[in-house]
Amino acid sequence: MDRTFLLLKPDALKKRIVGEIISMVEKAGFDIIDIRMRKWNKNDAEKFYAAHRGKQFFEGLVGFMISGPVIGLLLERENAIYELRKLVGATDPSKAEPGTIRHLYGTDVRVNAVHASDSPKSFEYEVECFFGNEEIL
Ligand code: RTP
Ligand code: MG
Repeated sequence: MDRTFLLLKPDALKKRIVGEIISMVEKAGFDIIDIRMRKWNKNDAEKFYAAHRGKQFFEGLVGFMISGPVIGLLLERENAIYELRKLVGATDPSKAEPGTIRHLYGTDVRVNAVHASDSPKSFEYEVECFFGNEEIL
């Protein structure tokens, strides 16, 4: 069984759609292995999104990601990374397939409700970043 990482961004909490998103993920066949909420500081957000450092949207992205708490979920399913990216939809909600999380709940290309790992390598990095050396259930 494969694993992936889902992060509910600050707008998901503000919009009160945490339950809806988690329900969609469960209905899509994912098991929740671990879950935790945190409030990031600038360093946390910059480290998590280090791959985007230098891009024009980096500062705005970091500001958004520290505007409120985030919730991270370690998920398990067959073909987990691919299937979760499919359920999440395109970065820009206006281009996301109907029925995807971002199509339903995203606001714009930055404020798009969730993040999902895009490769085994980014999954490893993001889980380490988010859960650190805390014991994973
Ligand atoms: P994510 O990493 O959050 O799952 O999203 P993604 O792979 O679909 O998109 P990516 O290119 O990795 O971008 C990371 C996040 O940065 C924000 N963003 N803003 N033009 C913009 O203003 C812009 N482009 C990207 C979004 O929050 C995006 O999810
Ligand atoms: Mg990405």
